[in-house]
Amino acid sequence: MRRQIPLASLACLTMLSLAACGGGDADPAAYPESEITFVVPFAAGGPTDTVTRLIAEPMSKELGQQVVVQNVEGAGGTIAAGQVADEDGDGYQVLVHHIGMSTAPGLYPDLAYDPLEDFKTVGLVTDVPMTIVARPDFEPETLEELIAYVEENADTVTLANAGVGAASQLCGLLIEQATGVDLTEVPYDGTGPALTDLAGGQVDFMCDQTTNTVTQLQAEKIKGYAVTTPERIDALPDLPTTAEAGLPDVEVGVWHGLYVPADTPDEIVQKLTDALKVALADQNVIDKFADLGTTPVAEDQVTPEAHTAKLEEQIDLWTPIIEESGVTGG
Ligand code: MLT
Repeated sequence: MRRQIPLASLACLTMLSLAACGGGDADPAAYPESEITFVVPFAAGGPTDTVTRLIAEPMSKELGQQVVVQNVEGAGGTIAAGQVADEDGDGYQVLVHHIGMSTAPGLYPDLAYDPLEDFKTVGLVTDVPMTIVARPDFEPETLEELIAYVEENADTVTLANAGVGAASQLCGLLIEQATGVDLTEVPYDGTGPALTDLAGGQVDFMCDQTTNTVTQLQAEKIKGYAVTTPERIDALPDLPTTAEAGLPDVEVGVWHGLYVPADTPDEIVQKLTDALKVALADQNVIDKFADLGTTPVAEDQVTPEAHTAKLEEQIDLWTPIIEESGVTGG
């Protein structure tokens, strides 16, 4: 989707040196002159959507323009990332993505974009624990019982996820690798709708981020087995870690970051980074994150440099694990 060109940018296009105007038709000094779209690669109502909407409001206030959230679902988040990679680098289309940005290169041999080459990083946002959860009447009561149950019932147990490239799929893959069991996966456009089906008893179990599961677990609408972080979390103090409960190899934290197309001028990236810093220091954001089992990253992580370093480190970490599994998104 292409945005209409603002008047100041039209003026910029008439200048002799387009380079002075930065990437595409952008006028970095005047940015932002109109509404900004935050593109979320999964369904509305899910964890990425929740994180995005929480930071969108204070960022909008700081940038002085409306920030609208657009959910572009499909192919485990790769459709949305491909769409933003193809946009003009004018700062008006911002991708909010998570760990999936680092797993996609291993999962998709023909990925339409290169996460490191086709984007500029803006800054990290938050690191969200995952939980292993089940439908309320699922037989196993503990993680140990779940492992035994899936081993005995591998043909019938269903594992929900948000498609190949989603955090839920990566966590499910780690469970399958740790148990040596190949399960029937049920893909959704996001874990928002997957969790609704889980609570309704349509699928057996899944991994999902605390930003989606804490409220449901506290209300006992779903069953919880473990949290996938090295330490227990304050929002769910009774939930053991995967290491405590018998699956030490299933450890994953879902980090989030903001991206813009690679030709976006640095001045625009800096404005987005500054606004993100303000959003992550907002007490309302901090409190809501805490309620959902997470915290904003430290301020020194809200930079393009820290974000790029994290992306590179995570691509190096996950690519061999994914290649060894043989899983591919096509
Ligand atoms: C979502 O927003 O639906 C998720 O982040 C899905 C996932 O990656 O598991």
